[in-house]
Amino acid sequence: MVISFNSIKGGVGKSTLAVNFAAWLVKEGHDVLLVDGDEQETSSDFTAYREQTRGDTGYTLVNMTGANLRKQVESMRSKYDHIVIDTGGRDTTSQRAALSVADVAMIPFAPRSFDLWTITKVIEVIDEIQSIRDKPLKAYTFLSRADIKSADNREVAQALATYPAIQYLPYPICNRKAFSNAAGVGLAVFETEQPDLKAVAEINALFNNVLHGHNTPATA
Ligand SMILES: Nc1ncnc2c1ncn2[C@@H]1O[C@H](COP(=O)(O)OP(=O)(O)OP(=O)(O)O)[C@@H](O)[C@H]1O
Ligand SMILES: [Mg+2]
Repeated sequence: MVISFNSIKGGVGKSTLAVNFAAWLVKEGHDVLLVDGDEQETSSDFTAYREQTRGDTGYTLVNMTGANLRKQVESMRSKYDHIVIDTGGRDTTSQRAALSVADVAMIPFAPRSFDLWTITKVIEVIDEIQSIRDKPLKAYTFLSRADIKSADNREVAQALATYPAIQYLPYPICNRKAFSNAAGVGLAVFETEQPDLKAVAEINALFNNVLHGHNTPATA
């Protein structure tokens, strides 16, 4: 499966989740390619730290940006069980290329109004991409960097759930220091010495649903 992390608003946790997803798929026993499709190269920096911390990364990393990303990912599709693509937080050629080649698009939203305001543009881009694809793209929204108290997330969660073009997944990833602390040393949140079990549970619920369609109980 090719899974792409996308957004038009920056800083919503795409890279954090893309690297966690790549490491999570490796832990599940899969052969994984992580594509850094952002000139900012956050996933590449993470991977360099990961190499220092662990000795090996567990997945293969490549940098691909621009229109070429589509062709290159297509040519590597059969060589891996899963390909995870991290894209930059703007409507770029790389982002559209990722959306055109992916099976699944993961579109995180922070539960804040400025972030929610980009949903109309996101829907426009997804509609455009769907119109040129042979096979429909499965597009998911979910809350990222969400508030710990679920009441504070409710309004944005309800708003996201009203768009039929994109399926809202009720498995929020909360704002937890554990995510940034682990990523800072090149680790997924479940790989640290004393993992934050709530953070790990959030990751498992979201990723299991994307990969296996498990109906883990909703938390928001
Ligand atoms: N769930 C989380 N809890 C706490 N901090 C987080 C979480 N997710 C991301 N962060 C932090 O928020 C910042 C932005 O995250 P990240 O780089 O993953 O976002 P991004 O969407 O990839 O940004 P960009 O659009 O610039 O590529 C980073 O400092 C990261 O450590
Ligand atoms: Mg990023």
